[in-house]
Amino acid sequence: MDINIISLFPEMFNSPFGHSIIKRAMDKHIININFTNPRDFTYDRHHQADDVPFGGGAGMVLKPEPFFRAVASVKNTLPTNKNTRVILLSPEGKTFSQQTAKNLSTYDSLIFICGHYEGFDNRITENLAEDIISIGDYVLTGGELACMVIVDAVCRMLPDVLGSKESALTDSFYNGLLEYPQYTKPRYYKNMTVPDVLLSGNHQKIDEWRRIKALEKTRLKRPDLLDKINLSPEKLNAVKKLKNDCTKN
Ligand code: ADE
Repeated sequence: MDINIISLFPEMFNSPFGHSIIKRAMDKHIININFTNPRDFTYDRHHQADDVPFGGGAGMVLKPEPFFRAVASVKNTLPTNKNTRVILLSPEGKTFSQQTAKNLSTYDSLIFICGHYEGFDNRITENLAEDIISIGDYVLTGGELACMVIVDAVCRMLPDVLGSKESALTDSFYNGLLEYPQYTKPRYYKNMTVPDVLLSGNHQKIDEWRRIKALEKTRLKRPDLLDKINLSPEKLNAVKKLKNDCTKN
């Protein structure tokens, strides 16, 4: 997958993309990350990418020309038969979710537009982006941090990015549920123990325990998630049983 990031501050990405899973995915050429600085598409003496808002008011607004030119330049480098999506990061966008990560992972190339200052000239927002995505209802200094979050979540979904030990299938949210609780050595620590079933060697029992615990944890910590997913009759019964047990206690 080709990941193209349009940002006035490309250096911000060095550390987050220089480690762990993203770095490995780049080393294996599963993903290829390119940066384009809109400032390189400003032709005035000061290379100005922002300007004061028409109508007055505080702060600066990102100018349309550098961003339109930057997107056109990135698109020119991509083969026309590539399935590409242009995404603009902004708190006014649709809230990012695991489902959005899965959808984005099906594209051959993604173009991310990161903003700064008071925001984008509205012609960028309205005409350049196919998706506007927010990572939550709060305002960040810029779209770069949001872009890092999205790239990370999308890359985990790509085939061969995660090793067999880190399957995305067991991730929280992948199936609409939180992940079951995990334990490792030591078995006993400060009066806290590991559930016996995990040491039983009975894989059917372990799978069953994990399914129940994932449901239980989701019901306790994120009950809203259970309303959003289509549960199999078996899981639905398990949730009903958990609800009953809970009202009895
Ligand atoms: N830019 C500033 N705040 C943001 C947010 N919450 N999500 C995405 N992009 C942003």
